[in-house]
Amino acid sequence: MTTTLITGANKGLGHETARRLVAAGHTVYAGSRDPQRGRRAAERLGARLVVLDVTDDASVAAAAEAVEADGGLDVLVNNAGVEARTPDGGVPGAAGTTGGGMRTLFETNVFGVVRVTHAFLPLLLRSAAPAVVNVSSGLASKTLVSTPGTPAYGYPGVAYPASKAALNMVTVQYAKAFPGMRINAVEPGYTATDLNGNTGTQTVEEGAEIIVRMVQAGPDGPTGGYFDADGSLPW
Ligand SMILES: NC(=O)c1ccc[n+]([C@@H]2O[C@H](COP(=O)([O-])OP(=O)(O)OC[C@H]3O[C@@H](n4cnc5c(N)ncnc54)[C@H](OP(=O)(O)O)[C@@H]3O)[C@@H](O)[C@H]2O)c1
Repeated sequence: MTTTLITGANKGLGHETARRLVAAGHTVYAGSRDPQRGRRAAERLGARLVVLDVTDDASVAAAAEAVEADGGLDVLVNNAGVEARTPDGGVPGAAGTTGGGMRTLFETNVFGVVRVTHAFLPLLLRSAAPAVVNVSSGLASKTLVSTPGTPAYGYPGVAYPASKAALNMVTVQYAKAFPGMRINAVEPGYTATDLNGNTGTQTVEEGAEIIVRMVQAGPDGPTGGYFDADGSLPW
């Protein structure tokens, strides 16, 4: 029985990933920073609730203690993420990007992933088949963002792509440091969720596909890579 923790599982891609993994027989810890939203989601999913705010050291430490006391962890899905928005719902471009705004985004999308991974590492290292899946973005690809004609090229934001590019680097360095663990970054694709005001063109079922596949890849699966549903992406 594989035990899997998904951060930000109360809605969106994290919720759909949890649903699929429960159906596949995993014991799923559904992470949620809000206890009530989390409780409702966990009940819907048949998952165990872990109250976990990835920006809060004490919350993350308490979550790791609870999961450890419950028996440990095999797979960590760092899914919780945020996107910068202007008051009218747009994406702040280069001129509208501030240090403070960028720090807020990095606090969740980068430092949050490091905080959670660091706290759960001792548990993962005790697993027979440990894996970490970091939910990145196609906007993390410096190749795609600088290639005219790609959807990523037209995206004006600074902070979000930079945070996911940093997450990709975190992924590569952890993968080298822990060769016994499979650690990968994935791009779900442009998916209708609250993150983008539900403007995404894919369903959550389609978006969660590569996350679920990387969770289930097994000990012979890849590590240190960056994938979407069609295969490897250029860094
Ligand atoms: N949707 C897309 O097109 C797309 C494309 C590429 C990558 N992604 C990535 O996919 C991941 C999931 O996003 P989504 O599209 O499913 O968005 P979503 O529906 O907005 O879900 C985001 C989840 O992250 C949680 N979260 C945010 N800040 C948190 C914190 N500090 N601590 C714990 N949980 C926190 C949210 O909780 P609350 O409900 O409490 O806010 C929510 O559960 C993100 O990393 C995102 O960057 C999405």
